[in-house]
Amino acid sequence: MKLTLLSFVLCSIFSTASWAANDKNDLASFHKEMGGCKSCHTQPGKVSDSETYENQQCKSCHGEYSALANPKLKLDPHASHLGDINCTSCHKGHEKPKLYCNECHSFKGLEMPFNSAQSKEPWDKGWDNDAISKAIAAGPKETTDVIVVGAGSAGFNAAIAAKKAGAQVVLLEKGPFSGGNSMLAAGGYNAVGTAQQKEHKVDDKIEWFVEDTMKGGRYANDPKLVQILAEQSADGIKWLESLGANMDDLKRSGGARVDRTHRPTGGLSVGPHIIDVLRKASVKEGVDTRLNSKVVKLVIDEDQKIVGVVVHGKHSGHYMIAAKSVVLATGGYGFNKEMVAFYRPTFKGMTSSNNITSTGDGIELAKAIGASMTDIDWVQAHPTVGKDSRILISETVRGVGAIMVNKDGNRFVSELTTRDKASDAILKQPEQYAWLVFDNELYKKAKMVQGYDHLDMLEKANTVSELAKITGMKESSLEKTVSNYNRYFKQGKDEEFAREQMPLPLEKAPFYAVKVAPGIHHTMGGVAIDTKAEVLDIQSKPLVGLFAAGEVTGGVHGYNRLGGNAVADTVIFGKIAGTNAAKHALETK
Ligand code: FUM
Repeated sequence: MKLTLLSFVLCSIFSTASWAANDKNDLASFHKEMGGCKSCHTQPGKVSDSETYENQQCKSCHGEYSALANPKLKLDPHASHLGDINCTSCHKGHEKPKLYCNECHSFKGLEMPFNSAQSKEPWDKGWDNDAISKAIAAGPKETTDVIVVGAGSAGFNAAIAAKKAGAQVVLLEKGPFSGGNSMLAAGGYNAVGTAQQKEHKVDDKIEWFVEDTMKGGRYANDPKLVQILAEQSADGIKWLESLGANMDDLKRSGGARVDRTHRPTGGLSVGPHIIDVLRKASVKEGVDTRLNSKVVKLVIDEDQKIVGVVVHGKHSGHYMIAAKSVVLATGGYGFNKEMVAFYRPTFKGMTSSNNITSTGDGIELAKAIGASMTDIDWVQAHPTVGKDSRILISETVRGVGAIMVNKDGNRFVSELTTRDKASDAILKQPEQYAWLVFDNELYKKAKMVQGYDHLDMLEKANTVSELAKITGMKESSLEKTVSNYNRYFKQGKDEEFAREQMPLPLEKAPFYAVKVAPGIHHTMGGVAIDTKAEVLDIQSKPLVGLFAAGEVTGGVHGYNRLGGNAVADTVIFGKIAGTNAAKHALETK
């Protein structure tokens, strides 16, 4: 059947919502009626783990991802921050579809085609030691120079850097699409000495970046790693720009003494932007990226040297790839409830702002071959996660002027203090939640706030007292809080909490509030690395061939990470890990 005709028929059928009329009521049965198995598969039964051909087929009929955006929908999964992802992430051929958005949001009433299809067991049912042993015994199915595990920012940066250094690279991602937790990063990238700081006349120094980061981390950070973070931060911005990123907007994050958090113009969230840039750059560089491909074992030889990994692919099962270098870029363990409860019992059961992929896999993989851990029990609770959702309300909202009040409408801490202190302060308030309060001037200025409004997360009122009524705060308290704050703004001094920066008064109606509470946001601890991003064993010697970057590592952030330092960490140490992994692989060929 011609694709144009097929797409016409499909569109008519989708638009009249009659997709229920077939035997098994799944997408595959439907396509069987339309044109047989070959309308989706090149050879039925032979599907690559990334489902590349199948997704190309979806797009050839239905159009590119962005073309499916429906302006009539208030919440449109096809116009999301996840960018251009595989259709099969949500639309399943032979089973019930999955509305991926609902892993974080709770979009009610969004009907998915073929929703009454049968559920199937997930393809990844956990570790299978027998299958792993068989894959190792069978020997490698293929050989490459560098394997990168995890396709978030650290993984993409490592893969691109390794490719640019002349290595052959395979990038393995367990999820149905790339981006990892970086995809959700809202804030920005801390850098010192950039053209952007110069243009905004921000006076900053490498020593200040180092001091702020060490102080934020309660001086538990590895000073050598922090020095690299600061020294290479401006180069990291240039590198992202050379790949196509826009990092021209500047703001201040908690714990920083000057504006050094770089993000895209217009205050857009940094994560989706850089992931989009990195996805495209990795394709251009020829990185072999494989989705639905979970690394389940790091394979070492009798001398403890890395010789490859075992992969569990969604369709290909367990197989081994040989490589001289492996880069772990699997992220933290902030979405792994058991690990959080084990390492940080006081945060047991706390909500998490993390992507569902943040399950600490790299930590387990590295531990299994004798890697050492640094500060593994240090977990950061971000103070402002939406109280009734998993959506992070970015520190930017406080950075550009919002105040934070308790359930009665009283301020209780400097809004720009470090996250650990702000979270502790909220947990000491009655009922352990807070409200961020701001006015229309801030609403207009901060694009991300309009996004929260779009998600129906904001309370809105024409006066401060009306806002207090709607939110259950004490009217007189909130009015007094706002008028005091406006006075502090005018005099340039916060008499109560010594807030360092007050960019806006709260004067222009309408007024807004969003309810927040602490949620797990970052796991500072992880595998121990040296300045070359080599993973260390328990005697602090490098495990030859194993590198790591990003949230899977410990040491950069000490006991508490500053806002804007995670993205910087993923880019800077991702590049270092990728470059050194390539060098090692090429030199030991
Ligand atoms: O609040 C935020 O925007 C988070 C930023 C970060 O974790 O770096």
